[in-house]
Amino acid sequence: MGGLMNQALKICLVSSECTPFAKTGGLADVVAALGRFLSKRGNDVRIVMPMYSRIKNGGHEFYPVPDAQDIPIRLGGRTYWFSLSTLQLPRSSAKIWLVRCPELYEREGIYTQDADEHLRFALLSRAAFLMCQHTQWSPDIMHCNDWHTGLIPIYLRTHYGWDKLFENTRTVMTIHNIGYQGTFSAETVSGLGLDSDRYLLWQEDLNENRINYLKTGLVYANAITTVSRTYAQEIQGDELGMGLAGVLRQRSDSITGIVNGVDYEDWNPRDDVLIPHGYTIKDMSGKALCKEALMKRFGMSYEPATPVFGIVSRLTFQKGFELLAEILTVLLQRENMRVVVLGSGEEKYESYFTWLQNTFPHKVAYDRGYKEDLSHHIEAGADMFLMPSRYEPCGINQMYSLKYGTVPIVRRTGGLADTVEQWDPQSRTGTGFLFGEFSADALMNTMRFALDCWKDQEAWKVLQRNGMEKDFSWERQGEEYIALYRRLLPPRAPLTTPRATVTLTPPATVRKAPAKGV
Ligand code: ADP
Ligand code: GLC
Repeated sequence: MGGLMNQALKICLVSSECTPFAKTGGLADVVAALGRFLSKRGNDVRIVMPMYSRIKNGGHEFYPVPDAQDIPIRLGGRTYWFSLSTLQLPRSSAKIWLVRCPELYEREGIYTQDADEHLRFALLSRAAFLMCQHTQWSPDIMHCNDWHTGLIPIYLRTHYGWDKLFENTRTVMTIHNIGYQGTFSAETVSGLGLDSDRYLLWQEDLNENRINYLKTGLVYANAITTVSRTYAQEIQGDELGMGLAGVLRQRSDSITGIVNGVDYEDWNPRDDVLIPHGYTIKDMSGKALCKEALMKRFGMSYEPATPVFGIVSRLTFQKGFELLAEILTVLLQRENMRVVVLGSGEEKYESYFTWLQNTFPHKVAYDRGYKEDLSHHIEAGADMFLMPSRYEPCGINQMYSLKYGTVPIVRRTGGLADTVEQWDPQSRTGTGFLFGEFSADALMNTMRFALDCWKDQEAWKVLQRNGMEKDFSWERQGEEYIALYRRLLPPRAPLTTPRATVTLTPPATVRKAPAKGV
């Protein structure tokens, strides 16, 4: 038994993003770091993602897979052709399997509002199976991430159910953000190749003329995970379930909350090559230099005693910046403080931060770009980090902040609640500042309290140290995924049993009736 438990797993991680090749948020960091961790543990890991223009033109060395070029696939009533290339995940033996389909992926952004968005990610899901077939690789786990991969579990039961290669394959559906579900018109169903399987889809949705990719994944995956324990509970409630709470409650026995980890090789202030000066708990002098350099970078005066608040974020409804808009003007008028913001997204937030910078040019700096190096510099150079999120499945920046001695001020929701502990000046315990109610008053009180605490610099050092000592490495969280994968595995036949050989295309006559849904 011990031997079987330790046996390496074949894990296929399918994702729309992966650092450093294509990233809009935490999903990319998590997929890369989890892939790296799983592979370091001796598992055979393949990460499947689209070859976007930015990857193709990014100067990466990728290698076309000889037997997997120009593969036809019927989607959306026509044939697309795709090819596979591999690319090394840096600092890992895991490989990225890039799906090259210029017609669908070679566009400016990772995500689009284009009419074929549903096809772009249906292709990704189908290509993951075809990759396995072309290389005769039988995955134990297909690990799906967010709505983009939500069709994988149903495809496994329908299109690929006939293939013995997938006989023992189990699916995990991870929700990184339930706010994005991939909802499209029901008219797209036949183009997805699911026409004869319509009865397996959510009938109420079809009646209301839609298909929801994430919901489909949640119904058919063998296991569901989300990226923190608190969020696993929250999404089973009507407010944060965003229309999927009912489905999730029905599957509550299959839901696990696993807090994201942090890749401390990329994110630690001692060896971070993207920050101007390194530092450690023992010698924090580099942090002051990072702060000075940050102020200089934005043309603001450097005063060691003036606290700098940092923000690095997608600027969307989720992140709760409305609250800041209500109070920052007052705080900036009264307090000696600085605010540095890096982020892009919805226009109204971008205009707000632009306005704030123009109104307080000596106190506020706003960069509307997407800049990896600046995101590291803000983590290192700020004194406090603001995340007033309306909801936050996990959040990664607060964990980076803790490691960089940058005290997080966060709303008590999702992963923020699971990773930041309230600072208590009396007992000198805790790692940051939390507020519960989603209100400007609550945030204002918390920021004022933080500013008060800042005045006691001796205690502040303890607060910083408490955070820097926390360990959110994948060494811990990653084991939970491995344990989950193992729980899903079917009882194995002895290792010597030869596998049945398969053909690549399912002859129509042998395609089995799909198993019933959950
Ligand atoms: P989410 O995935 O919801 O955006 P997370 O906190 O999990 O939130 O992850 C955000 C990640 O995206 C962090 O690594 C953060 O540094 C990065 N990020 C967000 N906006 C920017 C930006 N404008 N420039 C550089 N990095 C950014
Ligand atoms: C999502 C969430 C964020 C989480 C990230 C990675 O985009 O908004 O909270 O940390 O995915 O799981």
